[in-house]
Amino acid sequence: MKYLIAEPEKLKLLEDSFRKVSTSGEKFVERAYETLFERLPEARPYFNHLDMLGMRGKLLLTLTMMIENVRRPDILDGLLGELGARHIRKYRVPVDYLAKMGDVIVDTMAEFSGPEWTSELNSIWCEAMKSIIERMTEAGSQPISPN
Ligand code: HEM
Repeated sequence: MKYLIAEPEKLKLLEDSFRKVSTSGEKFVERAYETLFERLPEARPYFNHLDMLGMRGKLLLTLTMMIENVRRPDILDGLLGELGARHIRKYRVPVDYLAKMGDVIVDTMAEFSGPEWTSELNSIWCEAMKSIIERMTEAGSQPISPN
């Protein structure tokens, strides 16, 4: 169990930047899925049968929960572990697609933050997202517990 980012002042920048963007949360997640489908059209069929309005709501809620629990690695680990396991085992999403969606989320953060997006904020988000995707991926590769 480990923090996504070790330095507390970086955690604060992460939280503050997300809080600002989440005031445009609906538009943010809409743009994120749009960018995913532009960059990775192969991801589209995974969502064909799904209600995208519902999916956008779930993505926003989950990102919000991740950031809200960024100082609670016990809770965050559980959340990322279950999310990763569902994506890899149940929805059969390739691991590299998860990493691409991670990049899309960071780039959409940049787009919605405007001039407030600094190179420091960019590296903080890249570092945090790398850990998020690693934890989702690790959980998806664990053998299923016999219990
Ligand atoms: C950082 C990356 C991602 C995050 C945070 C994320 C988040 C979510 C969330 C919150 C749900 C709702 C259900 C659940 O919690 O299991 C979900 C479902 C789903 N996601 Fe993702 N997702 C990511 C990447 C992807 C990618 C890249 C794909 C496909 C190419 C994908 C395909 C799906 C599918 C098929 C479902 C199933 C919905 C259903 O059957 O109800 N996800 N995702």
